[in-house]
Amino acid sequence: MQKNFLVPKEQLDIQDEYAKKVKTILSARYPDRKPKAYIHTYGCQGNVSDSERLKGLIVKMGYELVNTPKYADFVLYNTCAVREHAEDRVFGNVGTLKKYKTERRDMIIALCGCMMQQRHVAEKIKNSYPFVSLVFGTHVSHRLPEFVNRVLCTNKRVFDFTDSDGIIAEGLPVVRGDNENAFLPIMYGCDNFCSYCIVPYVRGRERSRNPRDIILEAINIIDGGAKLITLLGQNVNSYGKGTDTDFSDLLRLIDGLSGDFEFDFMTSHPKDCSKKLIDTLSQSSHYCRRLHLPVQSGSDRILKLMNRGYTRDEYLTLIDYAKNKIPDVSLTTDIIVGFPSETYEDFRKTLSLIEEVKYDSMFTFIYSPRKGTKAFYMDDHVSKEEKSKWFQELLAVQEKYKIRR
Ligand code: SAH
Ligand code: SF4
Ligand code: F3S
Repeated sequence: MQKNFLVPKEQLDIQDEYAKKVKTILSARYPDRKPKAYIHTYGCQGNVSDSERLKGLIVKMGYELVNTPKYADFVLYNTCAVREHAEDRVFGNVGTLKKYKTERRDMIIALCGCMMQQRHVAEKIKNSYPFVSLVFGTHVSHRLPEFVNRVLCTNKRVFDFTDSDGIIAEGLPVVRGDNENAFLPIMYGCDNFCSYCIVPYVRGRERSRNPRDIILEAINIIDGGAKLITLLGQNVNSYGKGTDTDFSDLLRLIDGLSGDFEFDFMTSHPKDCSKKLIDTLSQSSHYCRRLHLPVQSGSDRILKLMNRGYTRDEYLTLIDYAKNKIPDVSLTTDIIVGFPSETYEDFRKTLSLIEEVKYDSMFTFIYSPRKGTKAFYMDDHVSKEEKSKWFQELLAVQEKYKIRR
């Protein structure tokens, strides 16, 4: 049986009380106007979805959401740690907030999300960014009202990087960015530990939401006018592990809902993408007929080092099965170039796989070493120049195959 990851209701009730306290403090502090909050999200759809719940809490505390940090009283950056470039952007953008804080001492600058769950990053913020008042990790987001209350009451900096196996906070308010194109998280965390990837370290263990909670939220989203519902999880194919509902079962439940909507999902992990799932998709009337199946590499040697859990042949067999069962399926993928010890020979295998599958589109990345992951400690002999050359070659192939229909 799956462990119970639910945050107890009493703890969420306490947060409601903190939200009320914050509201009272803010109305005394800004008697003539509504306090303003700005939230910026980096990274994946999972983070965007988290921010929709953070926005729900922000509004509950009495803030009005605005589109620029310039005049905001509360600024929150929800960060991503997946590649170095993502982290550099966050550090750069946080740096530019300093001048606002100098002009307006009462502004609260807060950072949360995956980057902040890494101890070395949090320490850097603590020591080198004194104008940041609040930093919290991915396991305690539902406690935002408590943290804001503490900053307002004590005027001290607040840091909370509590680690846990992972939690699920149900019943949080949600402010959706787009009602027609809605995100619906079905699970959190990841247990796959692909050797290059930081996500399992910053997001905790894989855990699935109860199907009932998901269906209730789906109905709500459809009633709110959604035309597309995207189900979210790092590996949706392993949804429901330890329960009696798997991902195919969940999709059948969603497909059974009435309304004029389509559903999509991301991300599918090839190693857990079963024939049962493809069969289910082929029979679904609401399925959007897009399948994102990240392959990462076409070389068996690299796939093994990446700990992806499938071979090139197994992946291609899966693709054939999907193309046969769902002839109009649109396939997309993710590719990493320049994994440690990758040779040009390995890279050519990725190119040949792409030519074989003929994806409709691809998300391509140059490997970025992430501290704490297995790959970080692997010998990486390929030069930056070489990797960029291969990357350009990949982009040329991508151009050739893009949008075939
Ligand atoms: N859970 C999803 C992907 C999450 S990260 C999955 O397994 O498909 C999104 C993409 O970022 C990955 O598919 C991978 O291609 C890329 N990525 C992750 N870590 C990376 C790293 N260290 N360097 C370069 N690209 C990386
Ligand atoms: Fe990262 Fe792999 Fe998990 Fe995706 S499945 S989040 S790439 S560890
Ligand atoms: Fe980035 Fe975290 Fe998503 S590392 S890609 S925001 S899960």
